[in-house]
Amino acid sequence: MSPLDDAKKGAATAAAPATPRFLKAIYVYEVPVRIWHWVNALAITVLAVTGYLIASPLPSQPGEASANYLMGYIRFAHFAAAYIFAIGFIGRIYWAFVGNHHSRQLFRFPFWNTAWWGELILEARWYLFLAKKPKLYVGHNPLAQFAMFWFITVGCTFMIVTGFALYAEGAGQGSWQDKLFGWVIPLFGQSQDVHTWHHLGMWAILLFVMVHVYAAVREDIMSRQSIISTMVSGVRTFKDSEIPADEVDPNRRAVR
Ligand code: HEM
Ligand code: HEM
Repeated sequence: MSPLDDAKKGAATAAAPATPRFLKAIYVYEVPVRIWHWVNALAITVLAVTGYLIASPLPSQPGEASANYLMGYIRFAHFAAAYIFAIGFIGRIYWAFVGNHHSRQLFRFPFWNTAWWGELILEARWYLFLAKKPKLYVGHNPLAQFAMFWFITVGCTFMIVTGFALYAEGAGQGSWQDKLFGWVIPLFGQSQDVHTWHHLGMWAILLFVMVHVYAAVREDIMSRQSIISTMVSGVRTFKDSEIPADEVDPNRRAVR
């Protein structure tokens, strides 16, 4: 059996025969979580570029205006990516019910857990170069979980609700978008208010993406565990070699 197979069972690999077994790798992110992550990242990229262009259209385009369908294509790309984004998000919610422990972290916010807040502060200090050593995590660290909950779970829901409310204006009264999201525009005031909030939502998500990619690269280099390869292969590997495997529950948040 290869070490990867071993890791996929959440088991430990042997450092050497007849010595204590040490934790080297754990299977963390299942296939649907990884596929969703990369499809979602791509969809958000298309949505942000096309959304920006919807708000700030190109000042000119070549040839007769009637010979161009540029804004039509830009809006089509926005709506096609929006459907992929929304259906993917529903699929991701489904997977939180049927997937492993780590697939639920994105939707959880352990507000009443004081130890979790303590670890969040430690992680923030580590990011700010104020702590010498971070903790080891099987799944997401608390700071990442906090950011993902607010910017992705809440943020994506907000973008889907406001986006389909705007879409309902085009789809017309009686459309399913209007039946489901028709209440949103009156709630905000009028259409332009929803445009503005939908637009602001984009900048909130882009802020998350910039910090997220920086943190992923930084932690891949500086933390005690694999990061980027984990979102590709699903397997978390540990750089320290002194963690006895039988001390570790693969579902636990922090190893040490
Ligand atoms: C629009 C762009 C992106 C968005 C919205 C995004 C969002 C997310 C979300 C929501 C998760 C949690 C996954 C889950 O639990 O289901 C995650 C994890 C992760 N993302 Fe991204 N991501 C983006 C781009 C990237 C890029 C470009 C990279 C690589 C440089 C990356 C690296 C990772 C890694 C390594 C993790 C797992 C972190 C860990 O092991 O705890 N992401 N991302
Ligand atoms: C992360 C996801 C998304 C981002 C970053 C995004 C971004 C944007 C931006 C910046 C605008 C221009 C707003 C303005 O200033 O007028 C826009 C417009 C719009 N978006 Fe999104 N959007 C997202 C998701 C969605 C979704 C899920 C839908 C659902 C169908 C949607 C539908 C629309 C519609 C209908 C418009 C108005 C188009 C028009 O007036 O021509 N968006 N979006």
